[in-house]
Amino acid sequence: MNILFFSAQPYDKSYFTKANVSHQFQLRFLEYPLNADNTALVKPGENVVCAFVNDKLDATVLTQLKERGIELIALRAAGFNNVDLKAAAALKIPVVRVPAYSPHAVAEHAVTLLMAVNRKICKAYNRVRESNFTLNGLEGFDIFGKTVGVIGTGNIGAVFCKIMLGFGCRVLAHDLYPNESLQQAGVQYVDVDTILKTSDIISLHCPLTPETKHLINEQTIAQTKKGVVIINTSRGGLIDTKAVVEALKNGHIGALGIDVYEQEEHLFFQDLSGAIIQDDVWARLTTFPNVLITSHQGFFTQEALTQIAETTLNNIAKFANKEPLVNQIV
Ligand code: NAI
Repeated sequence: MNILFFSAQPYDKSYFTKANVSHQFQLRFLEYPLNADNTALVKPGENVVCAFVNDKLDATVLTQLKERGIELIALRAAGFNNVDLKAAAALKIPVVRVPAYSPHAVAEHAVTLLMAVNRKICKAYNRVRESNFTLNGLEGFDIFGKTVGVIGTGNIGAVFCKIMLGFGCRVLAHDLYPNESLQQAGVQYVDVDTILKTSDIISLHCPLTPETKHLINEQTIAQTKKGVVIINTSRGGLIDTKAVVEALKNGHIGALGIDVYEQEEHLFFQDLSGAIIQDDVWARLTTFPNVLITSHQGFFTQEALTQIAETTLNNIAKFANKEPLVNQIV
């Protein structure tokens, strides 16, 4: 198989090259994100596109890829909200993904955001480096005993719930399919309204779908407790960022920790340190002392990167050998 990677970073090259030793596929890595303007980069003979979270696989792009001979889309990610699945099905291009890879990586990152934003770790780090050893403004709260609301208890949400139980929290959860083993461990399933009204901390672990888009919006924020801490490591579109900015300005939201952002495809995975950022909502968000943002690095552990590369190439090998595609979405 001849595989063309879009949005490829040096670490993709390194982990995929290592995983490819047992496959010996042809790999070509492009750093550009895939969109309708650059499908012409596919060379004759290349038959698989390997894409990441901010590559755009809409109907136009998929049609162009089909015309250029692409037979398979292999996502090196779990989420697939960036793919027009109907168009892929109509074009008969199968789409495979990596449904689970170290859920611990993302769940632990969610905990990291929560702990760091609560205990003002970034501010403390800077102060100590400047020999400012005062504590004013660094006050946090005990996580122990707090009510944590978890929306989405799949692979990642389940790990997050267990970590929070370990902290001594009361864990409330909402999912379309409650997980019995979590219930036995002490997690209580409730409706979203109860999560909003009673949680001190809310962490989002559901996928972005038409039903979950802007799950956190002006109305739902109004239902939350004053001082609520919101953590989002899932997808940026789960949060209406403008509404969150307003609630941060008026002090209703106590802190925000996010690894994902609605308009992240214009920012993340690039060095824009010398550029003038045009996104004013983003610019406002970065001014709050109680907001901690990382640029989609929840998955970024050695274990996860190894699993992503191995599963992606195994998915492609199954396609090449005409075996059932176990990780096929469409
Ligand atoms: P999963 O598919 O195992 O779990 C998602 C859960 O959300 C399922 O249990 C599902 O029933 C539930 N769900 C779906 N619709 C819902 C709704 N309307 N309300 C409540 N629950 C709902 O997915 P996994 O692996 O746990 O990943 C969760 C999300 O994390 C992914 O969709 C992806 O967007 C994000 N992610 C972020 C990464 C990062 O680096 N920050 C890396 C990997 C995933």
